[in-house]
Amino acid sequence: MSGYTAAPGGVRGVAPPSAGGPAAGDGVLLVARSLVVRYPGTDPSARPALALDELTLAPGRSVALVGESGSGKTTALRALLGVVRPAAGTVEFGGVPVQRLGGTAMRAFRRAVQPIQQDTDGALDPRQSVGSAIAEGYRAGGGSRSATSAVVARLLDEVGLPAAIARRHPHEVSGGQRQRAVIARALAVEPRLLLLDEPTSGLDATVQVRILELIERLRAERSLGLLLVSHNLGVVVRLCSETVVLYRGEVVERGDTRALLDVPRHPYTAALRRSVPEIGVPFRAPLIPAIDSASIDTATGCRFASRCPHALVDPCAAPQVLAPVEGDPGRLVRCARAPELGPLDPLA
Ligand SMILES: Nc1ncnc2c1ncn2[C@@H]1O[C@H](COP(=O)(O)OP(=O)(O)O)[C@@H](O)[C@H]1O
Ligand SMILES: [Mg+2]
Repeated sequence: MSGYTAAPGGVRGVAPPSAGGPAAGDGVLLVARSLVVRYPGTDPSARPALALDELTLAPGRSVALVGESGSGKTTALRALLGVVRPAAGTVEFGGVPVQRLGGTAMRAFRRAVQPIQQDTDGALDPRQSVGSAIAEGYRAGGGSRSATSAVVARLLDEVGLPAAIARRHPHEVSGGQRQRAVIARALAVEPRLLLLDEPTSGLDATVQVRILELIERLRAERSLGLLLVSHNLGVVVRLCSETVVLYRGEVVERGDTRALLDVPRHPYTAALRRSVPEIGVPFRAPLIPAIDSASIDTATGCRFASRCPHALVDPCAAPQVLAPVEGDPGRLVRCARAPELGPLDPLA
């Protein structure tokens, strides 16, 4: 599909890693079940910041979390890292809820699951050289003192940085080099899963592509699991075989990335897809909400109803259920009208 090529940082029609089961012989890394996150001080009767029905992360597999700003993407990563406590549901590592991990298992979890933040400026200590930041990560992960300098050199090489970068401080390198250094430091603890929050959004388009290529290579070579948060569909299509679409804290659709973007089933996914600018195609008009939609309470009914061109009081005012799509294995959609609407044209 040509449609993603003009997205900022989009990649030229490269197929995403193939969908399918986890890499042979590997198990599951992290599972979220019925996860609900509410931030302290927020109204307990209001919709939660995040409600994630189920999410399984496995070695070598890459899942994207997409949705507009405020949809709960970062909240999901925080909950998976165990830094926000869910109001309900669990995150399990090795079959044990993260909150119940003991000392050794908790250390293993902290090594296995490495976050990569969007903001590379804050990710490295400005007083520390790039080399010592990576060395510190390696030593914190139990690496031996004698091997440290060789490991730092190998990691710099692995992420495509020249050895001389080791002596520089974060402000003395470019944004792209800084993000590579952050990735090298994460790799120093031999992680099994990277949680990437908009990892390239602060970078120039050409640098973004190089970083994405690096991440994809690391996934394949190290059989890393990836969870990638992005609002850039060009990035998602490049890196992730499976995509989960969030809207106001709720999963509205999920499935195989390419199928989901080519043939959306939820009107919000179609809207997201429409918002990608394409070279040579005039801007498309924004969606016009259905007249019916104004009277639908989005706190109890469909959360997207007030923006949806297909909304009807019946059935959109009722609570919406995430349901399988007939004839499309692996696809789930939260839209009571989906069966009658059928495949949506993302370019209409
Ligand atoms: N620390 C916080 N305290 C209260 N509300 C928060 C906090 N962080 C995020 N939120 C709210 O939770 C929702 C999801 O936010 P977030 O996960 O940051 O979205 P995204 O990463 O998709 O932009 C938003 O409504 C946001 O305002
Ligand atoms: Mg965010």
